Amino acid sequence: MSGVRAAARVGHQRTAPAAERAWSADPYADALHAGRGPLFLRRADGWLLPLDVERWCAEADTADLEVLRRCEGAVLDVGCGPGRLVAALGAEGRRVLGIDVSSAAVAHTVRRGGQALLRSVFDPLPGTGRWDTALLMDGNLGIGGDPDALLRRLAQLLSPGGLLVAETVPYPDVDERTLVQITDAHRTPGAPFPWARLGTPALRRYAEGAGWRAEDEWSAGGRSFVALRAR
Ligand SMILES: C[S@@+](CC[C@H](N)C(=O)[O-])C[C@H]1O[C@@H](n2cnc3c(N)ncnc32)[C@H](O)[C@@H]1O
Repeated sequence: MSGVRAAARVGHQRTAPAAERAWSADPYADALHAGRGPLFLRRADGWLLPLDVERWCAEADTADLEVLRRCEGAVLDVGCGPGRLVAALGAEGRRVLGIDVSSAAVAHTVRRGGQALLRSVFDPLPGTGRWDTALLMDGNLGIGGDPDALLRRLAQLLSPGGLLVAETVPYPDVDERTLVQITDAHRTPGAPFPWARLGTPALRRYAEGAGWRAEDEWSAGGRSFVALRAR
């Protein structure tokens, strides 16, 4: 059963929040179809954060492979996008599921041979409390705009002692919770939704306050990562 059909069968009764509607809208889906941007998160002050759609649509690169090497057991890729990590792990015969609120992202992942479900990380999910590793790559620490709530949710999804690998902003001082809109810089930007950006020190502060143990941190390819262990 494909991930897309699996998700459709389960269905959603609740109203999708603004963030889910924004990631499901045309600018992101069109960029995934084209395999490239321009695509940005736009803050209220006009500052534009470029989204690296080209890299997300490409094969896993060296920095990604280092993340995948550290994964243990069954892996949940939260906000899997077009699925390069799910596909790479699946090709190695590893147990892996991607979840994403964008049907275009889920369809891409499934086309690449990966398993994916159209779900929010905050929805009921298969394997809750039994995932060995969760991934939050490419800025996905921003999901929900509330790092405490996201870390609490991931602690529920992981098995006791499970591993979270999260990508942080490669500037140590960043600890930002803000409203953003998705824009391709041509069409009218979508509705604002909450997003967060954290450098490594900020993530470690949130995590240690919530009972996680920081196990490692590293940089690769200009990107930075933290491995956290659930208690
Ligand atoms: C910054 S992009 C990262 C893309 C990605 N990791 C990749 O490999 O292409 C954020 C992704 O998270 C998804 N997302 C946003 N909110 C989500 C939620 N609540 N649950 C699951 N996925 C979500 C978006 O649809 C989008 O694909």
